[in-house]
Amino acid sequence: MSQTQIDNLQGSGPTWAANFPKAAMLRKLIRSKELSFIMEAHNGLSARIVEEAGFEAIWASGLSISAALGVRDSNEASWTQVLEVLEFMCDATRIPILVDGDTGFGNFNNMRRLVRKLEQRGIGGVCIEDKLFPKTNSFINGTSQPLADIEEFCGRIQAGKDAQRYDEFVVVARVEAFIAGWGLSEALKRAEAYRKAGADAILIHSAKRNPSEILEFKREWGDRLPVVIVPTKYYTTSTDVFREQGFSAVIWANHMMRACITAMQDTAKVIFSEQSLVNVEDRVAPIAEVFRLQGADELEEAEKIYLPQSAKLTRAIILGAAHGPEMGQLTDARPKCMLDVAGAPVLAHIVETYRAAGVKDIVVIRGWKKAAVNLEGVKYCDNDDEQEPSEAYSLFKAITELDGPCITSYGDVLFKKYIPLELMDVEADFAVIVDTNWRESRNRERNAEYVTCSKAYSKHANNQDVSRKNISEDIPPKLIDGEWMGFLKTSPAGTQFLRELLVQLCEQGPQAKPLQMVDVLSEIIKAGKEIRVVYTAGNWLDIDRVEDVLAGSSFR
Ligand code: SPV
Ligand code: MG
Repeated sequence: MSQTQIDNLQGSGPTWAANFPKAAMLRKLIRSKELSFIMEAHNGLSARIVEEAGFEAIWASGLSISAALGVRDSNEASWTQVLEVLEFMCDATRIPILVDGDTGFGNFNNMRRLVRKLEQRGIGGVCIEDKLFPKTNSFINGTSQPLADIEEFCGRIQAGKDAQRYDEFVVVARVEAFIAGWGLSEALKRAEAYRKAGADAILIHSAKRNPSEILEFKREWGDRLPVVIVPTKYYTTSTDVFREQGFSAVIWANHMMRACITAMQDTAKVIFSEQSLVNVEDRVAPIAEVFRLQGADELEEAEKIYLPQSAKLTRAIILGAAHGPEMGQLTDARPKCMLDVAGAPVLAHIVETYRAAGVKDIVVIRGWKKAAVNLEGVKYCDNDDEQEPSEAYSLFKAITELDGPCITSYGDVLFKKYIPLELMDVEADFAVIVDTNWRESRNRERNAEYVTCSKAYSKHANNQDVSRKNISEDIPPKLIDGEWMGFLKTSPAGTQFLRELLVQLCEQGPQAKPLQMVDVLSEIIKAGKEIRVVYTAGNWLDIDRVEDVLAGSSFR
């Protein structure tokens, strides 16, 4: 099968068809006359790193997976918990995985279910060892570990082979005779029985610091089946020796996990003792590398295809310069937008809501106590000219950011994400959200800007044909259709118009005309432009008074 065919099949996800090439790749590797190298991994991240290093296959080590899960290599993690880890590893990589299947997690029946499930998850093969469930690691009192009855273990192998749906799936039989101290002839006897039972390869394990046992075994065994080794203890032996003796594959069984331990211990120690990241930052992977390994680029590309682009293109401009003297001492050291509501600044809630609506490009205009406005991931423009700046002038200070579709809104208004979503859906050059629940706010005697629209709200008032005729604090109640919520959405052409308008209104400086946003809207209407209205009811909160700060806690 060509690599392209394999790629095409893999592209279809972890299905039966997709699993087949990985098993075929593993089979080819095990049967090749060349010595191959299979590197340990224990989760999706380490598996991806192994693949990137150039390895052709992964050893899903029981020791490493259990260690990463914080448990012992004694079947403390259930086989389905291991399966979950394997699925992440498989999804993260294109090279095949040989799973350390311990003893098969039980008898022949558990083994055949294991094989089925591994195939379904895209695994290329499994290795099972001739011990008893629950097993423990071969390097812990190996000689006192009981070995399985040969005939019973052959049943496990045979059941696994009979269960597999694809011929290519690999079952490796691991002989633990040397580990248990039973010697060469027992090892050979077992290997031969397992070969007859259908094993595709033999893994001969040894805990000796020199390779004498496994070399003796290989000499006697010849090429009856491929032989895989794990030189964890006899690691000083030159790899050429294994190559010359005709071993099929070397498993480097636990070094990714052990490397992590050392790195994590060192890092934790330094950060704990120094209470600082300064001496660690350059020694750990940059965050950008984490994103790269996670495939963040691919998601960004996919977003271009699948996400509504209006959200991606729309920029939010948040007016956050206001002091808010009505809040008393609360705003002595910070602007109103940084008042704490439910454990986070109002502005943080606003930014989070915009992001939830898909608006990532966020500009905040700061003024009063600007140093206190320090959220990450947003862009800042500053209005340094006044103590209590005019809104129009603040927006003017961000004029270079007024580009493309924008939503301008206040830094002291909490809202639900459907509000920007609705605004982004409107195709007009100017659009505002109008709350039909205005009587309620009127009863609270707060400052509010009321609007008269071309049509009153009704079940039939379609957002496409309601526009705004007037806006003011002083509209007589019978002419009020709703309350402006402080959001202005502009299309690219609308933004361009707004920019020119702000230059006209503000170029003489902050004191010339202390205009608010409602004045800007009135100017837009005066210029003969239509402002489309989207009616809504409630679901926002203007932080105008100290009581609103408390109300904000339950708003979310
Ligand atoms: C593992 O990596 O879990 C193994 C190999 O089974 S060993 O730890 O050497 O037994
Ligand atoms: Mg193991």
